[in-house]
Amino acid sequence: MDRFLDTLFPTADEIPEAWRLGPPLEQRDYLVDGQLRQWQGPLATVRSPVWLKQGGEEQQVILGSAPLLDADTALTALDAAVQAYDKGRGAWPTMRVAERIQHVEAFLARMREQRTAVVKLLMWEIGKNLKDSEKEFDRTCDYIVDTINALKDLDRRSSRFELEQGTLGQIRRAPLGVALCMGPYNYPLNETFTTLIPALIMGNTVVFKPAKFGVLLIRPLLEAFRDSFPAGVINVIYGRGRETVSALMASGKVDVFAFIGTHKAASDLKKLHPRPHRLRAALGLDAKNPGIVLPQVDLDNAVEEALTGALSFNGQRCTALKILFVHEDVVEAFLDKFQRKLAALKPGMPWTPGVALTPLPEQGKVAYLDELVADATGKGARVLNEGGGQSRGSFFYPALLYPVSADMRVYHEEQFGPVVPVVPYRDLETVIEYVLDSDYGQQLSLFGNDPQTIGTLVDTFANQVGRINLNAQCQRGPDTYPFNGRKNSAEGTLSVHDALRVFSIRTLVATRFQEANKELISEIIRNRQSSFLTTDYIF
Ligand code: G3H
Repeated sequence: MDRFLDTLFPTADEIPEAWRLGPPLEQRDYLVDGQLRQWQGPLATVRSPVWLKQGGEEQQVILGSAPLLDADTALTALDAAVQAYDKGRGAWPTMRVAERIQHVEAFLARMREQRTAVVKLLMWEIGKNLKDSEKEFDRTCDYIVDTINALKDLDRRSSRFELEQGTLGQIRRAPLGVALCMGPYNYPLNETFTTLIPALIMGNTVVFKPAKFGVLLIRPLLEAFRDSFPAGVINVIYGRGRETVSALMASGKVDVFAFIGTHKAASDLKKLHPRPHRLRAALGLDAKNPGIVLPQVDLDNAVEEALTGALSFNGQRCTALKILFVHEDVVEAFLDKFQRKLAALKPGMPWTPGVALTPLPEQGKVAYLDELVADATGKGARVLNEGGGQSRGSFFYPALLYPVSADMRVYHEEQFGPVVPVVPYRDLETVIEYVLDSDYGQQLSLFGNDPQTIGTLVDTFANQVGRINLNAQCQRGPDTYPFNGRKNSAEGTLSVHDALRVFSIRTLVATRFQEANKELISEIIRNRQSSFLTTDYIF
């Protein structure tokens, strides 16, 4: 293992030509009120999870720097969004849906031109492998296309009048105001855009702050944002959350808070808002999704799914399987197969063909994972796999921990990294209690093929989590399905369909069904005197 770690990080010459970096990117631009402005204040250094060998030493790559805006500057972005919304009378919130869609389509076309630049930065900034980086980019483009189609559908259905108990009505969805959108570092493009795009397309104006890593990769999209939307509709800021986002929330001018991160940060930020009842929140938060392996099971499938569920993108997914409960009757065979499959996962750099395990972007993450492993082994668990828990720089080789018990930190804490805790159980009730007592409630996976047991467990867990996966790992997709969570795991539901609703409110124009009113409405429609009261629909 030591020898392998010695050869993990490459020299600059070993990086494939296509993915080599130019000089460090010093980014000073931020987008406010339709202008790319230059920040003259302090910058944050952007480090890569990739280290390079140089003259016998390994050194972390510095990718460049990004603006550390202060609170006042962040507030100028908020003011631009407030002005563009203009209390709901701005050009954007009053624009016809078909036109708003054209702006988003224009953005999408420009975004697609930046695929290579964004994919390259995804690899360098967060260590995501090439295949998954490409998938993240393409999935995001697909999400935008699906969102446009869902909105056309929604608009078609809203273009007709309804008649209920003598009241004629037209119901459309109207925007909410100014949205603050913040995504996570593990999906800095995709997860952010699953709130940003619905927020925009429904007529809200937006302040967007990129995640803590995956910052520079937004830079290639700034011109596309600037050129595709009216001034002030989308504003992009950078800096420390404490300095910038706190000021935005405390101003009371944010109407929708879309945030993916920890529940602690979300609660702290929400509390700063002086008018909590006017703030709508869409939150994707912590999770500790369990995988439960029953005694009657297709073990090969369970191992396959549990392995990718626990370790794809090194376990840095909110949906990752973060604890495995395996029945005593099958645990030995399970661990044996799991270890063999784990040993076949290829470590390397994000661009290495077929790579599965890559370095981690968070400073201090390796030390944290070391602590979790030391705590568990100090209390009776063992690292089963060869080389498990060994590390070099930002790279941590996955540790399969067994037997894990309730007194260990990893039993409760969301490791968000390549540590796989396995808890043996005899009595299913102990596993049920874990789920019931957990502070989290995003998803879980059940592996088994006894219809009676699975049927009963589905009923038990349907009131505990947002999604129960049968013989499959936890995941967010397909994006048309609801993605949510209970307890500390989420607020609101996202999907292509739901997000359009999260960022809007149904508004009704109603009148008594009488001749004069019918005539009034017909005239408005005939003369096209309203964008709301219209029977136009988009093909
Ligand atoms: O980090 C959480 C993501 O929403 C997970 O999405 O299941 O598609 O990886 P995924």
